[in-house]
Amino acid sequence: EKGGYPHFMLKEIHEQPAAITATVSPRVEDGMPDLRLPELTDERLRKIRNIHLVACGTAMHAGMVGKTAIERLARVHAEVDIASEFRYRDPILDPEDLVIIISQSGETSDTLAALRLAKSRGVPVLAIVNVVGSSIARAADYVLYTYAGPEIAVASTKAYMVQLCTLYLFAFRLAYAKGRLSEAETEHLTAELLRAGEVIQPRLADCEQIKYLASRFVNTQSCFFIGRGFDYALSLEGSLKLKEISYVHSDAYAAGELKHGTISLITEGVPVIALATQKQVYEKTISNAKETKSRGARVILFTTKDAVVPDGVADYVVRLDDYEELLMPLQLIVPLQLFAYYMAVLRGCDVDKPRNLAKSVTVE
Ligand code: F6R
Repeated sequence: EKGGYPHFMLKEIHEQPAAITATVSPRVEDGMPDLRLPELTDERLRKIRNIHLVACGTAMHAGMVGKTAIERLARVHAEVDIASEFRYRDPILDPEDLVIIISQSGETSDTLAALRLAKSRGVPVLAIVNVVGSSIARAADYVLYTYAGPEIAVASTKAYMVQLCTLYLFAFRLAYAKGRLSEAETEHLTAELLRAGEVIQPRLADCEQIKYLASRFVNTQSCFFIGRGFDYALSLEGSLKLKEISYVHSDAYAAGELKHGTISLITEGVPVIALATQKQVYEKTISNAKETKSRGARVILFTTKDAVVPDGVADYVVRLDDYEELLMPLQLIVPLQLFAYYMAVLRGCDVDKPRNLAKSVTVE
């Protein structure tokens, strides 16, 4: 049943290229993104004022990547909410808005309640769901299924990957409908997204490097992830994966926040995982990594193929391959998943069934 893999989590990490293809290719028509939602025409998309992305845990982290892509490409205001916060805070909603609900299981109780709240206020709801016919899929106005297949490991990996892909497709179509992306630009981004499965293959193959890094940090008490923009969203997800299955205390910070408190936690030998895949803020994150290094941190830097890494910044550098910068999260998440996985394995944890956690949270 695990297809020769020691754990479902590792199997599911390796299923990501297939999940990407299954999710993206049916929604591309003549090189353009096609959501195949007849009611959500370009004309309807053009009228959207604000987007609220609502979800829990890993799905919420996918929403953060979606928000950044939507705002950057379509220039539509988007915010991300934790479902359990959204439902109890009387959110400001307008019928011209769109609520995007993201869920692997389609049964998470807070997420379902958030959906019902939005509907009761007359706001259209688009759900990105993996389980066909689930409660969330049935209650939403529009559904974009992700095709990850069944996800058994409690820690979500391939479902997150295809949530990202679906949010990118949505962002491309929205930006095109809004006239923010030309047809040629939309086609280019769509083609890049279509080859994401191929782009991540070498990251899956590089697992020995990540396993080695995990072995260097296996006895650590706590760990920090830092990054900006997309890399901040990925820091949160990499950190959640690590603490969830390896029980290493881990926190993620927007790199610019370090000096507002967190840096007092950096002492000799503390691991800092710095993510720097975005050119515009590269130098900034590098200087933050350097600040932690000069206080004794052991820094693992994840960056792009040709980025110049000055001396005294990182103990280890993990390089990604050239790829469209906007889609870098798809490539970056793989080594972060593998890092969490190998830390958990080396620490003797029950990788697929971490303590106290359920796959689907149907209670508040
Ligand atoms: C973490 C994880 C959880 C879920 C969250 C939402 O690895 O899997 O954080 O993402 O419980 O679950 P769904 O997506 O089923 O609504």
